[in-house]
Amino acid sequence: MIVIDENRCSHDGLCVRDCPAACLKMVDGKVSVRADAPCLKCGHCVAVCPQAAVSLDGQDPDALPRVSPLPAEEAMTALIRGHRSIRQFEERPLPRELLLRALDTVRYAPTGKNVENVRWLVLDGRQALMRAADAVVNTMRDKPGLEGVVRAHDRGHDPIFRGAPCAVFACAEEGYHLTAANCIIALSWLDLLLPAMGVGTCWAGYAVGAALHSEKVRLAMGLKGKVMPFAGLMAGWSKVRYARIPVRRQPDITWASE
Ligand SMILES: Cc1cc2nc3c(=O)[nH]c(=O)nc-3n(C[C@H](O)[C@H](O)[C@H](O)COP(=O)(O)O)c2cc1C
Repeated sequence: MIVIDENRCSHDGLCVRDCPAACLKMVDGKVSVRADAPCLKCGHCVAVCPQAAVSLDGQDPDALPRVSPLPAEEAMTALIRGHRSIRQFEERPLPRELLLRALDTVRYAPTGKNVENVRWLVLDGRQALMRAADAVVNTMRDKPGLEGVVRAHDRGHDPIFRGAPCAVFACAEEGYHLTAANCIIALSWLDLLLPAMGVGTCWAGYAVGAALHSEKVRLAMGLKGKVMPFAGLMAGWSKVRYARIPVRRQPDITWASE
């Protein structure tokens, strides 16, 4: 899987030190690949090598994109602090091409052991959303505290998806203890990228909560078998613009140093 180009390698050991799974070692001053390498295919050995001397699974390292300068702290701070949940959407749909672009970037979000097990479900259009919303609300009918949500739905409002033109769910098969984390991270990254592309978002907690507990809801969403939607977002063109950043609690931090 990992091949070192002897003609390019400077034997600086960068790849050896950066491999999280200790697949590489220095032998007589040269990089050598362990026979039983438990490779995660994370590509750190390829990414870190300035000489493009490492290749993984036959990929040409020269063909890989170069790293661009990262956004400045100020830009990231503005994105995070200025991010608001959008609950008023224009009716016009989001172009699939735009969502594809965003999901194509979000596949670079980290996953535990680099398992890359997140897959996406897009409820695209009001018909698919309302079919799912009906199923979600049906799980709420006997639950105290949710009467207002049920009433609003039955009166033709949409408290579940807030009238959005689509909803995106990060899904995965259950069975690996970091699966939910992988989905939540991927969706969080999408939730930051989409507003930077001009798209409004809001987490779909009602829908995810119901879908995790009800196969009927999952079927209404088009999910089968062990695939679970661990995180979901409504997305669409926002009708609202916010002028100010509201107050949030100060961070509660415990510094444990000894
Ligand atoms: C996990 C999660 C689930 C949420 N589910 C919903 C939801 O189902 N419907 C909704 O309108 N807002 C939902 N929200 C949005 C929160 O209410 C919102 O983030 C919070 O009120 C703070 O507002 P802000 O995001 O504009 O800062 C959810 C947020 C999170 C993080």
